[in-house]
Amino acid sequence: MNLAFFASHGGSNMQAIIDSIKSDRLDAKPAVVISNNSDSIAIQRAIKEGIPWYHLSSKTHPDPNQLDGTILEVLEKYETDLVILAGYMKKIGDKTLDAFRGQILNIHPALLPKFGGKGMFGKKVHQAVIAAGEKESGATVHLVDGQYDHGPVLAQKKVPVLEDDTADSLAERVLKVEHQLYSETIADIIAGKISLPG
Ligand code: GRF
Repeated sequence: MNLAFFASHGGSNMQAIIDSIKSDRLDAKPAVVISNNSDSIAIQRAIKEGIPWYHLSSKTHPDPNQLDGTILEVLEKYETDLVILAGYMKKIGDKTLDAFRGQILNIHPALLPKFGGKGMFGKKVHQAVIAAGEKESGATVHLVDGQYDHGPVLAQKKVPVLEDDTADSLAERVLKVEHQLYSETIADIIAGKISLPG
């Protein structure tokens, strides 16, 4: 199973998956890393791990169609089976979405369908969860469609929201769970416990 990672910033979820592979908890290959941000820690991680990486963005490809086409070429070059969005802040282009429909996964730091959608990222998610008085939050792995945080949910893991939580403390608790859930979900897909459409 060849995994292609898309990451814009820290890439800690990507790293957790790579670590699962390195410790034989996940039978997959980190085939390629794509980042829209040439300064991302995710690219530094790819270099350190010896994984091929590409900076592909509106800077390298001002025409969105060409960017989409180039991303698709890279995915095909590395014989990608699953696309793993790990803190990727851009929408996936139509060509890539069509070619990999049902094979693109994302992780979101809340219990979707609550607290997702455009603008719901980073601290804003956890601030909204606390402001709504939720007693629990968590992480969701879902398939990607054309809308933000919208496709079918594949797996969720819950954490409590504590009375004295700040967005930072809740984010930290959720991120720990994300690091487990993403690898476990990919392992379940590989083992056939979760089946993807098509
Ligand atoms: C995570 O909270 C993930 O749920 C969201 O973006 C964040 C990425 O963190 N989609 P990292 O780059 O994996 O550290």
